[in-house]
Amino acid sequence: MSRRANVRNFSVYSALNKAPWSWPVPEEAKQLKNPLHPTAPALKSAREVYVDKCAHCHGDTGKGDGRDASRYDPAPMDFSDAKRMRQATDGELFYKISEGKKPMPVFKNKLTEDQRWELVLLIRSFAQPVSPATNNTVK
Ligand code: HEC
Repeated sequence: MSRRANVRNFSVYSALNKAPWSWPVPEEAKQLKNPLHPTAPALKSAREVYVDKCAHCHGDTGKGDGRDASRYDPAPMDFSDAKRMRQATDGELFYKISEGKKPMPVFKNKLTEDQRWELVLLIRSFAQPVSPATNNTVK
């Protein structure tokens, strides 16, 4: 494939898929439920992975403002966008972290399943600080 064809495909693609949430995820992947709960140790271990592997794009507090973020279009997802995060299922976030999508790397071969589910908990906490009073997923 020539470079020019790639560029043309990309622009058609980005016109149709302007919004970052138009990243297709298989229905069965969307249905997966997070087997983990947002406990302090789970969030702490996710935080360590996040700082190392995600923050340079997604930003320290998940706002999509990491030091490399301006290089990318679409920009890295802003995890503090509560409206957007409410629309995403756990399975969808897990799938995206696992599979990646250029420029975002594939993580299924770098992180264990538990680590990826912990990251789902962490990135949700950016939009909605985990509080036992309001978070009905905590049992
Ligand atoms: C090289 C920069 C980069 C790195 C590193 C990176 N991401 Fe991303 N990420 C992106 C970009 C860019 C997008 C938006 C992609 C798109 O929509 O086309 C994205 C999208 C996502 C999404 C999808 C959001 C949605 O609702 O569609 C999730 C979830 C995510 N990233 C999680 C992570 C996690 C967790 C890590 C670390 C393990 C990580 N990312 C590392 C750049 C990055």
